Amino acid sequence: MRSPTARQIRIAAVFAFVPLLVAAGVVLTDRKAMPIMSHGPLQAGHSDVRCESCHVPSAGTVRQQLQAKVRFGLGMRDTRVDFGYGAVTSKACLQCHERPNERHPIFRFHEPRFEKAVTQVEATSCLGCHAEHTTHRTTVDLVFCQACHDDLALKSDPLDVDHATLIADRRWQTCLGCHDFHGNHSAHPPKALEEAFAPLEIEAYLRAGPSPYALPKNFEAKEDLP
Ligand code: HEC
Ligand code: HEC
Ligand code: HEC
Ligand code: HEC
Ligand code: HEC
Repeated sequence: MRSPTARQIRIAAVFAFVPLLVAAGVVLTDRKAMPIMSHGPLQAGHSDVRCESCHVPSAGTVRQQLQAKVRFGLGMRDTRVDFGYGAVTSKACLQCHERPNERHPIFRFHEPRFEKAVTQVEATSCLGCHAEHTTHRTTVDLVFCQACHDDLALKSDPLDVDHATLIADRRWQTCLGCHDFHGNHSAHPPKALEEAFAPLEIEAYLRAGPSPYALPKNFEAKEDLP
């Protein structure tokens, strides 16, 4: 048999490519096809949360989005468009997680006095510290409290090793051993440093391990949107 010419190979390659293009088109536009694009596992607490609770379809028809994308690609449009689904924002999270007892509400950190702190830890957005489809419960490290609390001094400090000493010694890895971040666990912090959870235990929790903080939570998130 004659071996195929370069032209035949090119034609065959183009035809082999067409079904791939069609499949890609389906995946990008069909919301039912979304699960096959899901990058990784959801947080344990999110096993019953629907994709659409976080991934809100973006404005405009698919055709309009495509046109806008092309215009952006050609430099005829200044802003990038989201294709199919918009970027996930804190707004989606707050639909289920808004709580009156929040200790560190994200809106506070737009104040000018936090300008420097938010360059170290993006406290104005849930996704500054959390992600999804990773195995991490949070994406911050243990010592991020230092971005804001390095001038902390209590009028009458109840601790055996007081806060001022902990901070002077830069023992930032101890903070989460006594305080949760959101103030959503019902337990009160201990007064003896010895009773603090070990940094390794907290680190495991920040990834996806079991929670050392005493339950119940003051506030349970909504399971689904109304
Ligand atoms: C709790 C919120 C949440 C839920 C529920 C969720 N996602 Fe996501 N997803 C995110 C976040 C946050 C990102 C990071 C990218 C972003 O900001 O858009 C992401 C990214 C993705 C991406 C990558 C998009 C890109 O532009 O890189 C895909 C695909 C995806 N999710 C699919 C799914 C599917 C399928 C489900 C349901 C099984 C699902 N997601 C459920 C929050 C969520
Ligand atoms: C449809 C409702 C809903 C939405 C939207 C939602 N969550 Fe949740 N989330 C829950 C529920 C329910 C739980 C489990 C109960 C709890 O921990 O209060 C949970 C748990 C969590 C946990 C703890 C996970 C664990 O396993 O301990 C984190 C962190 C979290 N959510 C962050 C987010 C972030 C960040 C977003 C936005 C990207 C988000 N959630 C969007 C309902 C939601
Ligand atoms: C500056 C970092 C930071 C930001 C911003 C942040 N979180 Fe967290 N979050 C953490 C840390 C650290 C933990 C683990 C300690 C704890 O459980 O409080 C946590 C734990 C959680 C938990 C599990 C414990 C609980 O409170 O039920 C949920 C749910 C959660 N975050 C949701 C959110 C949502 C929703 C937002 C946005 C409104 C958000 N977080 C913004 C750092 C952050
Ligand atoms: C982006 C800035 C920021 C970061 C990061 C931050 N905090 Fe705070 N924290 C604040 C502010 C602001 C307050 C409120 C103090 C006030 O109103 O004067 C506060 C209050 C608190 C309170 C007292 C709450 C109450 O109800 O009185 C505790 C406890 C606390 N933070 C612990 C922590 C711990 C532990 C960390 C690290 C895991 C941390 N914070 C990280 C800004 C921050
Ligand atoms: C051994 C446990 C323990 C450790 C470690 C610890 N704290 Fe505290 N913290 C407490 C207790 C107890 C209080 C008293 C108020 C209370 O009961 O909430 C307190 C109070 C606070 C307050 C509230 C201050 C006020 O004006 O009311 C802040 C903010 C705070 N701690 C931040 C931190 C930071 C940041 C770190 C890490 C350097 C840290 N804590 C380490 C137990 C601890």
